[in-house]
Amino acid sequence: MVNTKVTLSGLELDNPVIPASGTFGFGYEFAELYDINCLGSIALKGTTREPRFGNPTPRIAECTEGLINSVGLQNPGVDKVISEELPKLAKVFHKPAVANISGFSVEDYVVTCEKLDKEDQIGLLEVNISCPNVHNGGMSFGTDPDSAAEVTRAVKAVTTKPVYMKLSPNVTDIAEIACACKEAGADGISLINTLMGMRISLTTKRPVIANKMGGFSGPAIFPVAVRMVWQVYEATGLPIIGMGGVQSAEDVLELMLAGATAVEVGAANLVDPLASKRIVEDLPAAMERYGFTSLTDMIGGAH
Ligand code: SIN
Repeated sequence: MVNTKVTLSGLELDNPVIPASGTFGFGYEFAELYDINCLGSIALKGTTREPRFGNPTPRIAECTEGLINSVGLQNPGVDKVISEELPKLAKVFHKPAVANISGFSVEDYVVTCEKLDKEDQIGLLEVNISCPNVHNGGMSFGTDPDSAAEVTRAVKAVTTKPVYMKLSPNVTDIAEIACACKEAGADGISLINTLMGMRISLTTKRPVIANKMGGFSGPAIFPVAVRMVWQVYEATGLPIIGMGGVQSAEDVLELMLAGATAVEVGAANLVDPLASKRIVEDLPAAMERYGFTSLTDMIGGAH
């Protein structure tokens, strides 16, 4: 009998598998397909202070071993998330969820985090300073250590729940950004968000995506995720939610050996809506196959 439980800053999860923000809606949509209580938690759709319509279409470009998206943080805004989306989720999911928060100013992050922090359903705040698809915000906070620290400090000042800063891989030194977040009080780090990418149509001779560039995710970025989780674990020792191209229980184990305490599954949900469930179900057998009896005991085991 293996033990799949892990603990993220005091939040005990039955298993480390969490569908990633932006690939699983507000969770309840997937409850029509299966009992989503099998998941460790759910990272909710990225939420901003005001409602957002998102970027013009087309927003998706298919690639070998992945896809590029430029959704642009489409969401109903924090007030509607609290009044309409969370109650729908509460009917079908009985565990704490991960709120994912984006902003265009430090004040935006503060207001949105402060509101979500008051919700009992939310167990952890994942603060996204890494969205590559918006101007004047998102990734611009996550590619500069001082800005990353400023957002972290401001959010920590108004919240009581664990704050995990979601970092961009589009930087030269990921450890520098992670250390800045740690010094500013972050409880943990989530990484990696998408890599900047682009496709051009040979038919139209124009970029496929209306916004020209977008965030590349999927299995092709998995080795980058392993490398960055490894580096952030070494540099900070903070708990990490690892993600980036995870497709299987074996990928979960590999990211945990690199240093992740929990693992988000992203693009795989878009290819197969049952992907996260399958990974949860496959995990015990994969642990036995590779000789792991406790997930908690193997975190960072490759160092
Ligand atoms: C988006 O909504 O454009 C994606 C969010 C993200 O990559 O952080």
